[in-house]
Amino acid sequence: MLFPSLIERKRDGGVLTPDEWRATITGYLADAIPDYQMAAMLMAVVWRGLDAAELSGLTQAMLDSGTRFDWTGSGRPRVDKHSTGGVGDKVSLALAPLVASCGVAVPMMSGRGLGHTGGTTDKLEAIPGFRTDLSLDEARAQVDRIGVAMFGQSERIAPADRRLYALRDVTGTVPSIPLIAASIMSKKLAEGLSGLVLDVKAGSGAFMTSPEHALELARTMVTIGEAHGCRTTALVTAMDRPLGRAIGNALEVEEALLALDGRGPEDLLLVTRALAVEMLLLAGVTTDRPAATRLVGEALASGSALAKFRELVAAQGGDPGVVDDPGRLPQALEVELFEAPAAGVVAAVDPRPLGAAVVAMGGGRRRLGDPIDHSVGFVVSARPGATVAKGEPIASVFARDAEGIATGLAALGEAIRFGPATVGLPLISHRVTARGTESLG
Ligand code: URA
Repeated sequence: MLFPSLIERKRDGGVLTPDEWRATITGYLADAIPDYQMAAMLMAVVWRGLDAAELSGLTQAMLDSGTRFDWTGSGRPRVDKHSTGGVGDKVSLALAPLVASCGVAVPMMSGRGLGHTGGTTDKLEAIPGFRTDLSLDEARAQVDRIGVAMFGQSERIAPADRRLYALRDVTGTVPSIPLIAASIMSKKLAEGLSGLVLDVKAGSGAFMTSPEHALELARTMVTIGEAHGCRTTALVTAMDRPLGRAIGNALEVEEALLALDGRGPEDLLLVTRALAVEMLLLAGVTTDRPAATRLVGEALASGSALAKFRELVAAQGGDPGVVDDPGRLPQALEVELFEAPAAGVVAAVDPRPLGAAVVAMGGGRRRLGDPIDHSVGFVVSARPGATVAKGEPIASVFARDAEGIATGLAALGEAIRFGPATVGLPLISHRVTARGTESLG
């Protein structure tokens, strides 16, 4: 195969056959296709897209590049959730134990931060001792034992995605509906799930900034999931403002603990509960939506969701004491308040500069393998639409030094905009299933 001719065909709007996509993935993993040619192909896909047969061929080739979970002998339905990525999105931390405490097996495989967005694996590693590098056998055994495991993407699951994800991160080729869909679905399908719930983020803090594109991404992924026999539901949720108040690894763990105790910020609780209900319905715990909603509410109110989180942390070598004393999480050396520069109405809190600042302050990676500082980040109490007085503290920066504080304050100055109140995106705008799209906003 002459790979440059395939790049040219895609560049000019042509299509590749499923066999050509398979050869592309195999050639890339065997180092027969160098990064620079693959990057050119990815950029051609960003511009030209993929038709349905190409998308299916690429996803299948990425899925087949690795191994799959073997659940032989496990009776329980298995459901996972995946977010397309956002800022302050700590939903998974609360959701996995919440759903597991309702009797569903949750093998949750998550990623690290990508670009300006945070990753669940990094957040979990803010808990002292917490191991995310479970082998597939360890993850399976833990799910059998306590109903939940939260782990990073193993080398053995969709290795093609691991390499492509890293290459896309540094070549401006992340925001593409088919590339995101193939990336997410190749990993999720390898988990051998009975059901999958997708949280597709829309807004400036998401990879799909426009709600229309987010909806298209949701439909694309639901179609792939269902075609592979995995019942899939997607909710499209707002990322034109941070979710909750905390942004940054340890700060987000602390806020997720509040949510598990039913005391978290309202938007975080609403999204977490809505996704939990979908997971219970897919798992067949009940077919009745009000009953699923009740079960989720009871798990939060009774403390069983929080107890499941404690059990999960202990099972994965983490310090379960953080559940009762979040002060045991890494603490920033420097903290500074951000005060409203003038009296007025908060028109917007743009998540993107805040996510980018967390990376700049050391809370995310510029290069694969960079160590990260889990303590840094923000707590933003100002919400769009709030009226604030001049000098009122509306956010805090957590950093490791004065330079980090300066970076954080500048990002808050850029992110928090004043002016006439604007209408934000509905917190949960659509529900997409095999049966179609329901508007909820
Ligand atoms: N999350 C993924 O797993 N892949 C992408 O391409 C984007 C977000």
